[in-house]
Amino acid sequence: MKEMVFNIYADAEALSEGAADFFSQKVRETIEDKGHCSICLSGGSTPKAMFEHLASASFFSQIAWESIHIFWGDERCVPFDSPDSNARMAFETLLDHVPIPAEQIHTIHGELEPSLAAQTYEEDLKRFFQGKSPAFDLIFLGLGGDGHTASLFPYTPILDEDERWVKEVYVDKLNTHRISLTAPFINRSDAIAFLVSGEQKAAILHEVLTAPVDTPRLPAQLITTGSKRVRWLLDEAAAQKIKGLV
Ligand code: 6PG
Repeated sequence: MKEMVFNIYADAEALSEGAADFFSQKVRETIEDKGHCSICLSGGSTPKAMFEHLASASFFSQIAWESIHIFWGDERCVPFDSPDSNARMAFETLLDHVPIPAEQIHTIHGELEPSLAAQTYEEDLKRFFQGKSPAFDLIFLGLGGDGHTASLFPYTPILDEDERWVKEVYVDKLNTHRISLTAPFINRSDAIAFLVSGEQKAAILHEVLTAPVDTPRLPAQLITTGSKRVRWLLDEAAAQKIKGLV
């Protein structure tokens, strides 16, 4: 754990503002360096407040939105207009409110047959990274109560995928397919930020960070946890069981 960086905020609101600050700072540094920036968003509910902060007047003017490419770490196998769509949530809270060119927003087509959706997204990634190092400048990840991240769910075949960048995965307990980046591709990212909020995540966070490595059971441990590139953005409630360890 010593390698990783932990930022612990008083509550969910402070966490979402801190995460928006981190997003803004990383984008600014990357664009100064490279002229453009690739950001991979996480799904679920936690990032919603961060997206809303980023769309607010206080952040809007800080960021060169036109130089950003947006991607997703995973997507549900639903159409864009589904309330379960990660992309729909990101558009409603952020992307409909900032001037990122439409062609720079790379959604996962959850409406397609799962293997085709995975192949189509991987082809989009390969086109974008052609001639460049295939690595996001920044990827956000969430942590599920069962230790999953992105759609790398416990005891699923995608956990062993080491060639593809994107795969479809059938999640028994959800009785549905998901599309997800694979762990090796996530680990290529220049910066990896987990965003974890709430006391309901305290136990699994402690388990992921302190239990012996058992990646089939705790897939979030697949993410390069021994590296400074990994930053845990937490609120006090989520961090309550690791406070003495970081
Ligand atoms: C998804 C996410 C998933 C999420 C975690 C945490 O599509 O749901 O990518 O990995 O980040 O399940 O979700 P919450 O933020 O809703 O707790």
